[in-house]
Amino acid sequence: MRQSARVWNHLPASLRHSSTGRAYGKHLHALVLLQNERRQSFGTFFLRNRPELELMRRLLNQKAPGSRLDISVLACSKGAEVYSVLWAIRSARPDLKLNTHALDISQEILEFAERGVYSRIARDISTPSPHNGTKVVEDVAWNTSRDQNAPIFERMTDEEVNAMFEVEGDQAKVRPWLKEGIKWLRGDANDPKLLGVLGPQEIVVANRFLCHMQPAAADKCLRSVARLVKPGGYLFVSGIDLDVRTRVARDLRWKPVTELIREIHDGDTSLRRGWPLEYWGLEPFSEDQADWGIRYASVFQIGEAS
Ligand SMILES: C[S@@+](CC[C@H](N)C(=O)[O-])C[C@H]1O[C@@H](n2cnc3c(N)ncnc32)[C@H](O)[C@@H]1O
Repeated sequence: MRQSARVWNHLPASLRHSSTGRAYGKHLHALVLLQNERRQSFGTFFLRNRPELELMRRLLNQKAPGSRLDISVLACSKGAEVYSVLWAIRSARPDLKLNTHALDISQEILEFAERGVYSRIARDISTPSPHNGTKVVEDVAWNTSRDQNAPIFERMTDEEVNAMFEVEGDQAKVRPWLKEGIKWLRGDANDPKLLGVLGPQEIVVANRFLCHMQPAAADKCLRSVARLVKPGGYLFVSGIDLDVRTRVARDLRWKPVTELIREIHDGDTSLRRGWPLEYWGLEPFSEDQADWGIRYASVFQIGEAS
């Protein structure tokens, strides 16, 4: 495996992008999926995948003025995703009455997310004693940098940072209008009782945590998550083994949303860069793949509205 990875790392870009290079990459990635140990991570980014947010805005064009929107962001980690989603929606549709839930299995990270205070300075968190006697959640710099392979703000312009945050020194606090009304919930996305807690959702966001589970567990969890979506609603699900997502989508007859399909697939640079050597890496989009319209879809309509 090490030898194959070395070969990949030394291939010139032109060869990597050729059909032979892709086939070699796919073979390598299949080995990585079999051999690599998976582990959950709190890594995340603000405005992580812009085309994903753009599609969400477009889907909301169908909503009547002033209507209510039930939306849940599962596995929200440090909160960057839920604040980004709300920023996108509120900027486009300030008229909507949002009923937002943000859920994570980790109480510690959920408390940090709810505070909505981040450090703008990336910190080396490899040091063993990061908290200096404070509660972990209060260590803003350490939590902000936790599990990040790049800074959490790297995908934002300064204008966007100023629109979303009150910046004081090296700290950025999410603006109150953006935080307002979010219901933070510790819970397991896999929990069958979750539907009773949240109620049926028009949009469920379940991004970039299922790839850290073994395929059988991810398959089971994805089916549970889909039950939260009300008929005709949408599931956003990226960051999962493509074979698992394709199989479940086919089995349950989900309708892939093909608008912006390529842009969304390519919209998260960290995932694309990780392929083929990281288990969470995402293969290149290819229309040569016979089932590309479902394999590369990250957004699905679940059932039909009555
Ligand atoms: C890599 S972060 C994803 C953050 C965010 N969704 C994003 O796309 O940037 C993964 C998060 O999933 C959470 N998680 C893992 N398993 C979960 C589960 N079964 N239910 C809810 N959250 C879970 C972890 O605690 C972690 O915060």
